[in-house]
Amino acid sequence: MAAALHLGLDGRKVNSEPHLQGMYPRFWRESSARRRTGLKRRIVKRGRARDNALVMAKNKDVAILILAAGKGTRLKSSLAKVLHAAGGRPLVEHVVRACVRVGPKKIVVVVGHQAEKVQAVVEPLGAETVLQQPQNGTGHALLVSRRAIGNAKYVVVLPGDAPLVRTETLRSLIQQHKKGQAAATILTAVLADPSGYGRILRKGGDNVAAIIEESQLTEEQRELNEINSSMYCFTTAKLWPALAELKPNNKHREIYLTDAIGVLNAKGETVLAEIAGDSREMLGCNTRADLAGVDHTFRDWKREALMRDGVTIQLPETVLVDPDVLVGEDTVIEPCVQLLGKTKIGARCVVKTGSVVHDSVLGDEVVVEAHCMISASRLDSDVVVGPFARMRMETHLKCGSRIGNFVELKKSVVGEGTKAMHLTYLGDARIGSKTNIGAGTITCNYDGFHKHPTTIGNKVFIGSDSALVAPVKVGHGAYVAAGSTITDNVPADALGIARGRQTNKKGWASKKRRELTAAEKPAKHSKKRQ
Ligand code: UD1
Ligand code: MG
Repeated sequence: MAAALHLGLDGRKVNSEPHLQGMYPRFWRESSARRRTGLKRRIVKRGRARDNALVMAKNKDVAILILAAGKGTRLKSSLAKVLHAAGGRPLVEHVVRACVRVGPKKIVVVVGHQAEKVQAVVEPLGAETVLQQPQNGTGHALLVSRRAIGNAKYVVVLPGDAPLVRTETLRSLIQQHKKGQAAATILTAVLADPSGYGRILRKGGDNVAAIIEESQLTEEQRELNEINSSMYCFTTAKLWPALAELKPNNKHREIYLTDAIGVLNAKGETVLAEIAGDSREMLGCNTRADLAGVDHTFRDWKREALMRDGVTIQLPETVLVDPDVLVGEDTVIEPCVQLLGKTKIGARCVVKTGSVVHDSVLGDEVVVEAHCMISASRLDSDVVVGPFARMRMETHLKCGSRIGNFVELKKSVVGEGTKAMHLTYLGDARIGSKTNIGAGTITCNYDGFHKHPTTIGNKVFIGSDSALVAPVKVGHGAYVAAGSTITDNVPADALGIARGRQTNKKGWASKKRRELTAAEKPAKHSKKRQ
């Protein structure tokens, strides 16, 4: 299901799923005492301090342009390249998020292929868009964006398909560009395998003569291993005249932005190149293999961040964690676990092997046994679930409840200390505290047209293999006899028994055996005679 919790433009949390309305805020209020002294306070404080620093260090003379109009032919996909996901987000979303924290005058995204879908990702983050139709190359993308860039003194140009770039790297690019009083500054990387990238042709010192696209490299230039990341800072007054001179002199008949570097150099302008500190940030995604490589790096970074914050991760390379997931101190994540979406996990929990937790909130000291699926649900502190349990949407397990193997819950509330340990389906059910749900209990919540509720009180005992035909209520302290099919409400403290009465027929079995043996004898004799 879609992510349940989003950040609004004002930074406040917005629940997009109606069933989660009010769920997260209440949970975090309940644990606020713990947070005052614990890990989450530190997360919040650190985040705030960083945000304040970012607000102070704005770059209001800089516009950022993200090129995201291309199709991505080499991915062989019906989805536009920048919408492909790595590290739990579409590529272009990573890029926009890194830019927002630079504090630029504006962020403009060039869209074209599947423009509306790309807009839907970038506009909620505060970016504006420009349509490039048709897509005649990276240089053409800049030409169509001139009006949107407006009178910004500098423009940082980024490809929408290189999502690992960090805010700090962009800030340092801008700083270096201003310091060097350059017409253009290019971020580069030195790669062992530079194939697929344009190469930097230096002319001495920090100065660049040209960028040569791979298809145009001479035999000698193939040795060059400094690559163009397609991340640049330009002084706009120098950029526009250079762009006006570009011609589509290549086999794709496109206007290449890379050619602007040679033009600037020929005009005697300063073009600088900065080698990025971490070359991984410069990696673009042109193929499925590139996507996998970039995803790997994102996942590494997220796990490293969690481990720095006091989370134990066993065999980290097997654990997949989405970017917005929060995990508290001393929680242990076993191998082959996936923590997805907006999941929040408290302190001292254990999530055992093979479990998948999606858009869910877990309190402190929760144990998720092996191979559980938990989705859009809330598990309060001290809950134990699994192994092999499934919590579907809108399930709320209150403190100390126990859900055992092969139990499925959907839109159900389970009270404090209540147990459902084996082979059970609870759908649209509200169950009180300290109740025992016997093995094989089924809420029959669907009549083929509508879903109906089942209400079970406190300290109820539901015998094994009972079917509760909804809508139905079982009052506080009541018993339901094992094997019952309950169609009427059971009052508080009553016994509900709804099954055929047993009769024992004395001697029936031995009589039957005698009859069968007698019937078999003549048949055997006749076989022998034949
Ligand atoms: C580009 C650079 C190359 C560099 C590499 C780094 C050019 C000509 N080449 O090559 O030197 O090493 O990036 O990753 O710039 N786009 C548009 N409109 C277009 C064409 C492309 O918006 O008309 C967008 C694409 O959606 C993409 C970005 O520009 O996000 C880069 O285009 P891509 O086709 O990936 O260029 P590369 O071949 O990777
Ligand atoms: Mg590319």
